[in-house]
Amino acid sequence: MTELISIRESAKHVDEEVHMHVWLTDKRSSGKIVFLQLRDGTAFFQGVVRKNNVSEEVFEAAKGLRQEASFYITGTIHEDARSHFGYEIQITDLEVVSNNEGYPITNKEHGVDFLLDHRHLWLRSRRPFAIMQIRNRIFKATVDFFENEGFVKFDAPLLMHSAPEGTTELFHIEYFDHDAYLSQSGQLYGEVGAEAFGKIFTFGPTFRAEESKTRRHLTEFWMMEPEMAWMHQDESLDLQERFLSYVVGQVLEHCEYELSILGRDVDKLKPAAEGNYTRLSYDDAIKMLQEGGRDIKWGDDFGAPDEAYLSEKFDRPFFIVNYPVAIKPFYMKKNPENPLTCLCADVEAPEGYGEIMGGSEREADYDTLKAQIEEAGLSLDDYSWYLDLRKYGSVPHSGFGMGFERVIAWICKLDHVREAIPFPRMINRMQP
Ligand code: 4AD
Ligand code: MG
Repeated sequence: MTELISIRESAKHVDEEVHMHVWLTDKRSSGKIVFLQLRDGTAFFQGVVRKNNVSEEVFEAAKGLRQEASFYITGTIHEDARSHFGYEIQITDLEVVSNNEGYPITNKEHGVDFLLDHRHLWLRSRRPFAIMQIRNRIFKATVDFFENEGFVKFDAPLLMHSAPEGTTELFHIEYFDHDAYLSQSGQLYGEVGAEAFGKIFTFGPTFRAEESKTRRHLTEFWMMEPEMAWMHQDESLDLQERFLSYVVGQVLEHCEYELSILGRDVDKLKPAAEGNYTRLSYDDAIKMLQEGGRDIKWGDDFGAPDEAYLSEKFDRPFFIVNYPVAIKPFYMKKNPENPLTCLCADVEAPEGYGEIMGGSEREADYDTLKAQIEEAGLSLDDYSWYLDLRKYGSVPHSGFGMGFERVIAWICKLDHVREAIPFPRMINRMQP
């Protein structure tokens, strides 16, 4: 019996007759032969229709196909060493489902605004296809990693009563007769989960009213936030390094085809899969920047150009540890060796990408945390449930957050995070 297969499965069906469900991305014909460029969501490859192999009707149907026509095909898989993909199909039968004219994304160059306006169709093209497949692999690797490490997936709410990461970037909403906010981070709820289940991770959308137009900021992005009870900062850094090297290793192992579509230099990614990430102190990072002639002093936060400067110095991700307390959120534990700094770390990606993850050990002492909430000018009422975690069975605990689109942008070497998510939301883009 002739099997229905996906393009991706071609290698297992060489010289066999198969059925496929496909769309047309491009077409070339010359008298007795039509070359169809096909996609089916799993890969792209070529279909060949020869006049003397098919009925007159099928040959005419093949010649009349328009870009993004959808159709069923029957044919035989062959190796094709000249193509990216390595296989093609010699088509013997073809049945058209839909075949309309005027697909807006033609095979000539289009500007990025035009493409983003047509994102609902653009996602079918090779480049977004490759990026979304890699996104999916990173998601799978993340879930596998945390499952293997004994974590429980824990869901934080998205409608919030108060702000975990400071109040400047909050999206305010009307919630019946009072105010509420869209979540900027699931962390505080993740800490609840850690005290209930030991080790948890949240994964979901987060919202920040970022007014800046940068290549690293979305107003809606996805974050993965692990939280570990009984864990100090050093162990958390070990975990972060294991996690990120596993993710990169999985992408290298499973996404060779997608990386080749993107033209990604995989040698640049390999060190990241080996671990051994430098732990650079904030103090030393400031010195490196000053020595490099950048205008920055102790106490300043790093701007994107500072992070880019530092990240060019490393061939793999690296940590910047122990930032000044003043530029970090209220929940971080102060560094006992220098209380002007906290037990926190950002992970910076190489090749100029900068921050992709950030985390800390959390303040676990009731009185200290209460004072830090007050110092930050936040309402104790809003955080009374959070303080309860320190009242009953408080333990040392740590966690971090990974910006999903930031990691994808780096792994795929994208110019902008907007390409790392199916439907980007930015200050001036909400559609489609
Ligand atoms: O550094 P952030 O603000 O840390 C937190 O939200 C902590 N609660 C995490 C934790 O400890 N559980 O954000 C974490 C990461 C950043 O490192 C960055 O990768 C990403 O989220 N991120 C953004 N990504 C895209 N667009 C934005 N506007 C982002 N803001 C942060
Ligand atoms: Mg951060």
